[in-house]
Amino acid sequence: MEYSRGDHTSNRLKLLCKIAVLLCIGAAAASGQLTDDYYDYCCPQVYRIVRSRVAAAMKAEMRMGASLLRLHFHDCFVNGCDASILLDGSNSEKFAAPNNNSVRGYEVIDTIKADLESACPGVVSCADIVALAAKYGVLLSGGPDYDVLLGRRDGLVANQTGANTNLPSPFDSISTITKSFQNVGLNVTDVVALSGAHTIGRSRCLLFSSRLANFSATNSVDPTLDSSLAPSLQQTCRGGDNQLAALDVNSSDVFDNHYFQNLLANKGVLSSDQGLVSNSDDPTVAATKALVQAYSANGQRFSCDFGRSMVRMGNISPLTGKAGQIRKNCRAVN
Ligand code: HEM
Repeated sequence: MEYSRGDHTSNRLKLLCKIAVLLCIGAAAASGQLTDDYYDYCCPQVYRIVRSRVAAAMKAEMRMGASLLRLHFHDCFVNGCDASILLDGSNSEKFAAPNNNSVRGYEVIDTIKADLESACPGVVSCADIVALAAKYGVLLSGGPDYDVLLGRRDGLVANQTGANTNLPSPFDSISTITKSFQNVGLNVTDVVALSGAHTIGRSRCLLFSSRLANFSATNSVDPTLDSSLAPSLQQTCRGGDNQLAALDVNSSDVFDNHYFQNLLANKGVLSSDQGLVSNSDDPTVAATKALVQAYSANGQRFSCDFGRSMVRMGNISPLTGKAGQIRKNCRAVN
């Protein structure tokens, strides 16, 4: 049989890819844990590729940074950080109440995956892509540059019921929200630091308009909502349930600590945001309020704790070693 030069090159490429995959599998099997240098030998381009795709998406629409951050959260709270949220099909998490018409960014993940399958076939998991996209969403919004741990593998099943039950609701009390965090191994500091993600992004009126009219027998508007913010939110929501309001009224595209300063001025948009400081009959609120005060006064401390809590969230039940698989297409198992 004759071999052309092209055959040699493509065979060498295939061999290099196989070695790269084996290097990655070897690293995971050896440690069973996530590491910050996981792709250094088998796909060192991963950071550049994810960063440039996230930057392009945010250039087209700045809000996408926030949407990618939320995508990671909604992935990790259901079956762990295994990219189960990306699977299409009848049991898809995409159609669970907290995600439907709400979670965004799936197409950005698809483009990153396509680039990575060209650069390092079969090496980078969808779950790691989601974690890295969240990191760059934060960083390119002006937030902290924390080290993402990598080496997750992709899950084989979606869990729509889990998405309906595990994710906290904006109508929950702080005690209930704290329990949902504790269920996945996170603590009260994680609740407050990660709620600081609402320094970027938007919410649909549907999820806070009950605070704006017919609130209770005695108050038409939620008394814990600042009286100058209420009319502007009412104005926004006249357009209907799908209208959007900034979660951080001062600087919705910049990752800073204004979200916490807003809460102390009764300018939290979601009831669950304002609840971190306002609802004194909730036993958890003394602890959450003290943290809100600390982060409001000290942006550096918020950045530090946020990065640490993102790493802790990213560590929820990862699949490593031989568990799961590296999906070729993030929307379907291989
Ligand atoms: C503490 C409990 C939490 C509750 C109750 C909550 C609830 C919500 C709700 C209701 C929205 C608006 C959704 C919509 O308009 O359809 C939202 C948006 C958002 N959430 Fe949370 N969230 C929580 C924690 C988190 C955490 C832990 C993160 C990330 C670490 C996060 C990141 C975001 C971001 C960035 C947005 C804006 C997304 C965008 O503009 O596309 N949230 N959240």
